[in-house]
Amino acid sequence: MLLRRCLIQRRLVSHVTTPIFYPNAKPHLGHLYSSLICDVFHRWKTLQGEENLFTTGTDEHGLKIQLASERNGFQNPKQFVDKLYDDFITLDKAFNVNFTRFIRTTDTDHINNVRKLWNLCDKNGFIYQGEHKGWYSISDETFYPESKVIEDPVNTGKYLNTETNNEVVYHSEKNHFFKLSHFNDQLIDYIESNPQFIYPEVKRVQILNELRNNRLQDLSISRPSFRLKWGIDVPGDPSQKMYVWFDALCNYLTSIGGIDAIMNNEPHTKLLHTRKEIQSPRDWWSNTTHVIGKDIIRFHTIYWPSFLMAAGLPLPRQVVVHSHWICNGMKMSKSLGNVVDPLLMKKHYGEDPMRWFLLENSQLEEDGDFQESKLFSLTEMFASKWGNLVNRCCGPKFNLQRAVQFYSDGRNPLLVNDDNLQAEVNNLVKKLSNIPISMDKKMNNFQTASALRDVWSIINDTNAFMQNAEPWTKGPAEQDAIIFLCMETSRILSILCQPIIPDLAAKLLDRIDVEKDNRTTDFSRIGADTTYGVGSNVKGRTVPIKRVTKRT
Ligand code: ME8
Ligand code: MG
Repeated sequence: MLLRRCLIQRRLVSHVTTPIFYPNAKPHLGHLYSSLICDVFHRWKTLQGEENLFTTGTDEHGLKIQLASERNGFQNPKQFVDKLYDDFITLDKAFNVNFTRFIRTTDTDHINNVRKLWNLCDKNGFIYQGEHKGWYSISDETFYPESKVIEDPVNTGKYLNTETNNEVVYHSEKNHFFKLSHFNDQLIDYIESNPQFIYPEVKRVQILNELRNNRLQDLSISRPSFRLKWGIDVPGDPSQKMYVWFDALCNYLTSIGGIDAIMNNEPHTKLLHTRKEIQSPRDWWSNTTHVIGKDIIRFHTIYWPSFLMAAGLPLPRQVVVHSHWICNGMKMSKSLGNVVDPLLMKKHYGEDPMRWFLLENSQLEEDGDFQESKLFSLTEMFASKWGNLVNRCCGPKFNLQRAVQFYSDGRNPLLVNDDNLQAEVNNLVKKLSNIPISMDKKMNNFQTASALRDVWSIINDTNAFMQNAEPWTKGPAEQDAIIFLCMETSRILSILCQPIIPDLAAKLLDRIDVEKDNRTTDFSRIGADTTYGVGSNVKGRTVPIKRVTKRT
């Protein structure tokens, strides 16, 4: 009896995170992309009635920020990050990215948690002092092994690392070290026995190979304070500041309540920026998904789980690795002048077409190519294929309200007087019945491109059906069957696409007068909404999707 009650009360909970971004320059398309993947995932879970936390933020300490702040003429790096932080918030707002917490690594609760994480690793014997000699890259904030260093083929005298091609200098200093080497085999075991941990599969294989072929070396996790001024002091040693990645990765623990909450699994309500009460912090953490770009895979799949194991903390569920956006076939770079400004795109095309475009034209495994002409074509498709379908069915010749009253909830079979047309009806009904489940599967696996292709396929079939069925030539019963089916398509797909295009989906649903309460997935079944369509065929109502012009 008690067990049953527990099972019933236990809600599905999860947590999704973006990387926390460096506020050393304005955010760009890539940052937006990671945020959108998470926002859509978060909205999808919410639509399914699950409770999900979505955290994002800025990574504000470290040499990179310190130097950028100096370059920009700021006395105090905090003032510099305060200014850039605003740009990240503005971008999220502009694209309806609905995070539940935006964490800044300069937040007090975060700093306390980082110290706690350090102390736990130290207490458990995984931190020691040593001398660090090697090839250091300032812009990557990392040392590179001798094998990855070459002389600059152009500027003689300088040295470069072969991973990022940034300059490296030979350097020796006192550091605190983390016993990363201790975790080599533990990580292999963990990744082998938890196949979902690194996704997609190619990345899992890549990391496993790396762990098997190049054994891990210990990792320097502090820098001398005279060089790195802008960072968190090492507990008990103010001559050293923490390595920025030790600080940054800890954000994921801070943002859902902190280390104590997860260790003790205590319910608590003090979750910043959200009124949600956390009943069981461990449940959230064991369902945490980190979404990251492929550039930071090593930090998240090797360093991060090792820090957690060292501290005696459980690991998150999954690290999802996505590829990069390039522009017209070339890497986006400031010097090439081809960096896409998301706010400019929003201003011209609107936030929802941009959201859809980024998710339809990318896959985890392959780099996505940003072509503005394709974004424009997408807005045309929305207007001509989807908006127009709704407009036609809401024309004064037809009566959607009557059609819904007659056909919804399976009250009457959807029959048309023609075998070919009937086959089209049956095909559409089948596709519409399948899409809620197939889309759920794809959205949970971050296969949005494939999910959105399925949506277009149904929209196209529906337009073809409308064209072939010629409802304007038919009597009322047949006419209503055709209009009903076409608007069920739009209604169901609009409900399912709310997480992708929140604003456009609302406009499409408003146009056919779907009540606000009837926009959950419970209503994504054919016939489930028995009340919509009232007044939809009244003359003079606005077009749900407006056309945009090409940007010159
Ligand atoms: O690495 N295409 O921050 P960062 C797709 N602060 N995604 C891209 C991209 C592109 N062209 N460029 C960047 C950091 N991204 C650290 C993270 S986490 C504890 C600390 C996205 O500002 C992608 O998610 O350099 C990538 O991993 C991230 O931005 C890097 O952001
Ligand atoms: Mg970067």
